[in-house]
This record gives sequence, structure tokens and C-alpha cells, in this order.
Amino acid sequence: MKVIPLLVAAFGTVAAAKGGKDEGPAPSDIFDDKLARYSLLGGGCVLAFFLIWHAVLRFMGHIRHLTNLNNDTQRYFIPAHPFIAWFKKSIVYAPLFRKRHNREFKLSSAVNMGTLPTRFQTLLLVGIIATNVTLCCITIPFPAPEKTVLGLIRNRSGTMATVNLVPLVIMAGRNNPLIKLLGVSFDTWNLLHRWFARIVVLETLTHVLAWMINKVHNEGWEAVTTSFAGQFIQTGLIATVAFVILAVHSPSAIRHAFYETFLHIHIAMVAVSFGFLWVHLKKYPQRRFLLAAIVAWAVDRGLRFVLIAWRNFGSNGGTSALVEVLPGEAMRITLRMARPWTFKPGQHLYLYIPAVGFWMSHPFTAAWSDSEELANGEKGLVTTQQDVSDSRKENISLIVRRRTGFTNKLYEKANERIGGRLSLNAFVEGPYGLEESLDSYGTVMLFAAGVGITHHVPYARHLVEGYAAGTVAARRVTLVWIIQAPEHLEWIRPWMTTILSMERRREVLRIMLFITRPRNTKEIHSPSATVQMFPGKPNIQTLIDGEIEKQIGAMGVLVCGTGSLADDVRGACRKRQYSSSLDFVEESFTW
Ligand SMILES: Cc1cc2nc3c(=O)[nH]c(=O)nc-3n(C[C@H](O)[C@H](O)[C@H](O)COP(=O)(O)OP(=O)(O)OC[C@H]3O[C@@H](n4cnc5c(N)ncnc54)[C@H](O)[C@@H]3O)c2cc1C
Ligand SMILES: *[C@@H]1O[C@H](CO)[C@@H](O)[C@H](O)[C@H]1NC(C)=O
Repeated sequence: MKVIPLLVAAFGTVAAAKGGKDEGPAPSDIFDDKLARYSLLGGGCVLAFFLIWHAVLRFMGHIRHLTNLNNDTQRYFIPAHPFIAWFKKSIVYAPLFRKRHNREFKLSSAVNMGTLPTRFQTLLLVGIIATNVTLCCITIPFPAPEKTVLGLIRNRSGTMATVNLVPLVIMAGRNNPLIKLLGVSFDTWNLLHRWFARIVVLETLTHVLAWMINKVHNEGWEAVTTSFAGQFIQTGLIATVAFVILAVHSPSAIRHAFYETFLHIHIAMVAVSFGFLWVHLKKYPQRRFLLAAIVAWAVDRGLRFVLIAWRNFGSNGGTSALVEVLPGEAMRITLRMARPWTFKPGQHLYLYIPAVGFWMSHPFTAAWSDSEELANGEKGLVTTQQDVSDSRKENISLIVRRRTGFTNKLYEKANERIGGRLSLNAFVEGPYGLEESLDSYGTVMLFAAGVGITHHVPYARHLVEGYAAGTVAARRVTLVWIIQAPEHLEWIRPWMTTILSMERRREVLRIMLFITRPRNTKEIHSPSATVQMFPGKPNIQTLIDGEIEKQIGAMGVLVCGTGSLADDVRGACRKRQYSSSLDFVEESFTW
């Protein structure tokens, strides 16, 4: 608790400091800098807390996984712990209000106004905002001459805006190490990124306004216009304008409608604002924080570059993509990887196809993998580790739904070809994603809508394989897939056939297909007792309750699909938190 006397001592310095100068760090600036470092430290402590929390959860999952490998009832793990049930129901899984979290607010089918954060996310955001407000105001002596107060607020808000750039940039990175360390997905970091950005813009505006009002009151408008001539004020103002442009062009509606344009403007404006801010902070210690932010950005970009170079330039040539048009406005893309790829459920990758999308990349889920051993004849004896990995070739397959941009162009290009097949050069960046493990759940339910099935196919395959091999706790796996028309079944037909014919599959995996818009009832028929087809939409609560009745061990529910399906499944899971141990995991294809 050394902080308190420190604060008191600093209070004296701050109160004594003059606030009016435009150039050079004053003692108060140095104190601001210290506060800024404390705020980063505080952020670090919060992260450490979550790190421990996540490690404990992982450890408990691991114990449950190991103890249940040979246990067919897993009774000990069925009941819910009342406190944990409350905590999950009311905080972690809870939407801000009654039900809505991921279903978007839409003005029309094209204008997407964004989603609401969960209660847990809201708590975090409120904490972040409160910390920022406190740090901008703490130790500022009220009442005091207006000049002093404004001067201090100006300095403080400027400092806080700069220091917030560090977490802001880290959270936007694809290679953010916190994703894996804390088990928090990219889209949650993206949400925090957006809020930090809003805070930075507000702090920047406060900074400029405090400066301006102070100047006008003390020296009049004339002094403001004359300071525009100086580099210090000029660069600061340009950076501010760039920050405001960033805020104005980033709302959900614009971002979703013109994602690629958004991204280009975004990067350009960040470069402008950081460049001018760099000059603006020439004489200030706060420049370190900007430097840290720039380094964080450069490291992420550098890692992406290395990852692309490593993944796509093997001794057997580059990565190629075979695009095949499928019924129901979709494509299967088979990526023949230049290097071996360790395939796991829950991975996604960024795909670049220069012939269609130039340098732009799009995220897709790795839905299937096939590997083959190359004949070693051409290479002679396999002697080194390098040779072993070169003698294996991997195909990663994706199912891509046609949308309006890149995916549309690719679809049309492939559709022009005879048979709808097209082979192109591609670059793959990945794997990314949480690779969430479901191995410790005795009962697993996978809910998918439409192309969300790509996320679940690897889990179904992994769990059936693990069941036969005795390496997972799973005893009951239910896959629920909601599609509009029966032709969508074609998307994954070959993979489904493989999974359905796997050893001991009938004992563990049940599939329920819901066709929401069947053309006629003849299309709906159930091939077997474990693969059933229904018309219409499922009643999610009934399905989940049915599984709870027969629950073995802890239950994991995974959902990937539209926002409204995710919200329905979330609601149904929250309702049964006290009945039995039930975890809810959500994957969304957007941010
Ligand atoms: C983790 C993850 C996994 C995904 N897996 C799949 C999958 O397996 N199959 C599938 O069909 N789709 C998947 N998607 C969605 C897919 O990325 C988008 O549909 C695709 O990028 C749309 O490209 P477009 O130019 O045709 O989009 P548009 O029609 O221009 O936009 C459609 C939507 O996609 C978003 N989008 C567009 N470009 C990007 C981009 N570069 N990065 C992120 N979002 C973008 C837009 O914000 C918009 O909401 C996944 C998305 C994520 C985030
Ligand atoms: C991998 O994909 C290529 C086409 O890109 C295909 O020719 C090959 O047979 C596939 N290999 C496996 C093992 O599926």
C-alpha cells in the first residue's frame, strides 16, 4: 500500500505545478506519466486475475476429463454447484437485459446496428470507463483556479488517451497472446478494442477542449489562432481529426456493410494519427506509450507475415485452393497446404486468394482435414525430421457461404467453369481460434444454423473418434443442425458419410436435422433412429431438457450460427443452470 503516500506526496507537486505552458514536460506531466503507468499495472493485475481463473477452470476440466475416461455414468459431475450456477446464470452467460445478446439490431436487412454486450462484458466495460474517469480527475484540486484545473485536466486526458493506445492496439491483433492465455475469443477483444477506442477519442477531445478553453480565457482567441502556426499544436490537431474520423467511420452499420473499405480507411487513419501524435509528443515522456503501441502493432503484423511465409512456401510448392460450387449458394474450398498442419476442432484461418481478393483476407473455419503420405521414391530415404514433415501432405477443407463481396466474386468465378471447379493460388494464415476442448463433457450438444456447421463437424468427428479410442469423456453427443433447404445437406455430405460410418458411432452420436423451408413433406424422412430429420424449427428448450434428463457427466453446449439461435440456446442453458452442471459456449462468425 505504498501507493497512497505516493499519491499524497504527488498531490503536493501537482497542486504546485503551473498548468499553462504549451511546451515541455512539467512536474505534473511527470506525475501523469506515473499514473498512466499505474493504470497499465492495474490492467495487468486484472489480466493476472483472469489468467488464474482460466487456469483453474482448465485444470478442473482436465481432472474431469481424466477421471471420466472409463466412467460410463460420471454421476459425480452431474449436479451443479449453486454458487457457480448463480454466477454463470446471472453474470457470465447473462445478456445485458432479458435475452438479447448476439441477435443484431437491424434497421433493415442491410443495416446492422450491432449487438448488446453480456452482463459480464458490461461489468468489464463499466470498470474500464470508471477507471479512466477516475484517473483523469484524481488529485485535481477542486476548488482551485480555473486555469489550474483546466491545465491539469488537459494534461491528464492527453496522457490517458496515449496510454490507452497500448491495450487498444494489443486487443486488435490477430496474434494477441491473451486469446489463448485467457481463453477469451477475438470477438470479445474486438469489443474491448472498440470501447477503448471510444474512450481514447473522448479523452482526446477533452484534451483539446481543455486546452482551447484555457487558452481563450487567459489569452483570448487570438492566442489560439497563433498557436495553430506552431508544430506542436498543428500535429496535435491533425492527430485529433484523424481520431475523430476513426470514430465516425467505425459504427457497426458501416463496418459490416463495407468491411474492406472500412479496413483500408481504418489502417490509413491510424497511420496518420499515430504519425502526427509521434511528433506532437516529441518532448514528452508519454511518447513511450505510443512507442509501445506501435511496437505491439508491428509485432502482430510481423508475426502474420512470418506465419504466411512459413505456411505457404514449402519445399513442395505453395498452397493451392480447389474451389467447388455446391448447391445452396455455397462452395467447398479444399486447400492443399504447403506444410503439414496440426488439425484440431475450433480452428479458423484467414484465406487470401490474390486472383479474387488481392491482399485482403477473410476468416473461415477449418471444417475438415485429409492427409496423405507422399511416396518417398522421389526423395529417397526419410532421414531427418524435415523429410518426415515434407513427406506428408495435408488438405484443409472449408465450406464458404456466398455473401456479397469476396465470397460472391469467388463463387461467380468458379460457377463460370465447367463443373463449377476452379483451382487457384492461395495463401493461408493460421491456425487461429480458441480450439476449445469438449473432451471433459460426458454429454455434448452441438447447435448449428446454416454454415455454422463448419465449426461442429470437426468436434463431431473428434468426439466419435475419441469415444471409440477411449480418450474422451463423451458418452452422448447430439448434433442439431438447422438449415433452410435439404440441398444444404450437400455441403457436408461426404464428411457426414465418413463420420456416420466411424467405429461405434451409433453408440454415441445422434444427429437431428431441422429443415425450416421444405418444399414438400416427401423431402423430410429420417434415414435411421440416430439420424432424424424434421420440418420447421426446433424447440431448443425441449431438446436441451431431453438431454438433461439423460445427462451423463457434465454437459457442454456449443452453438454456432445466427445471433438469434445463439440467444435462444443461451436462454435455454441459463434456465437450467441450477438443474445440472451445464456449460454454454458460443462461436460467432462476426465481430
Ligand atoms: C471466426 C470466423 C469463422 C468463420 N467461418 C466461416 C465459415 O466456415 N464459412 C463461411 O461461409 N463463413 C465463415 N465466416 C464468415 C466469413 O468470414 C464472411 O462471410 C466473409 O468474410 C464474407 O466475405 P464477403 O467479402 O463476401 O462479405 P460481405 O458480403 O462484404 O460481408 C458479409 C459479412 O462478413 C463480414 N466480413 C467481410 N469481410 C470480412 C473480413 N475480412 N473479416 C471479417 N469479417 C468480414 C462483414 O462484416 C459482413 O458482416 C467466419 C467468420 C469468422 C469471424
Ligand atoms: C487434396 O486436394 C487435392 C486437390 O486440391 C486432391 O487432388 C487430393 O486428392 C486431395 N488429397 C486428399 C488426401 O484428400
